[in-house]
Amino acid sequence: MGGIEETVPINDEYDIVTARSQGKSTAASIGFGLVDQTRISTAISELARNILRYADSGVVYIREVASEGATGVEIVAEDHGPGIADLELAMTNGHTTGGGLGAGLPGTKRLMDEFEIDTEVGRGTIVTARKWV
Ligand SMILES: Nc1ncnc2c1ncn2[C@@H]1O[C@H](COP(=O)(O)OP(=O)(O)OP(=O)(O)O)[C@@H](O)[C@H]1O
Ligand SMILES: [Mg+2]
Repeated sequence: MGGIEETVPINDEYDIVTARSQGKSTAASIGFGLVDQTRISTAISELARNILRYADSGVVYIREVASEGATGVEIVAEDHGPGIADLELAMTNGHTTGGGLGAGLPGTKRLMDEFEIDTEVGRGTIVTARKWV
């Protein structure tokens, strides 16, 4: 394993910019091309934006991962906010409780190769997404 691991606390708008650019440079050093770098940084900013909007604060981890000879990036967006009561609904394009477009989560899933959400009402949300080079 390459061992790149970045931790970006999300507390305000500037942290979203930081997470986004950190994701782009990490993706570049892992070996992703420009188009994938942009996909990955977009996914990170959507998840960070959700943290800020729905949970107020949280953390985004960006790390290099390896599996069976493949190299990739793993994004973990973690918060201790309200959680998501209906995951299927949350993953539906156009569904929003925050006056958004309701495109962030389904869009992020499309941008990445693997995507999972672990959430519990009253406890928080952990979104894990991976993409392979
Ligand atoms: N971290 C989170 N904690 C609690 N609820 C969340 C979180 N992330 C998403 N949600 C819920 O899932 C819904 C869908 O999220 P999604 O990012 O797809 O759309 P949106 O944030 O509403 O709009 P957009 O991302 O297009 O601006 C949100 O409206 C919200 O109800
Ligand atoms: Mg969103």
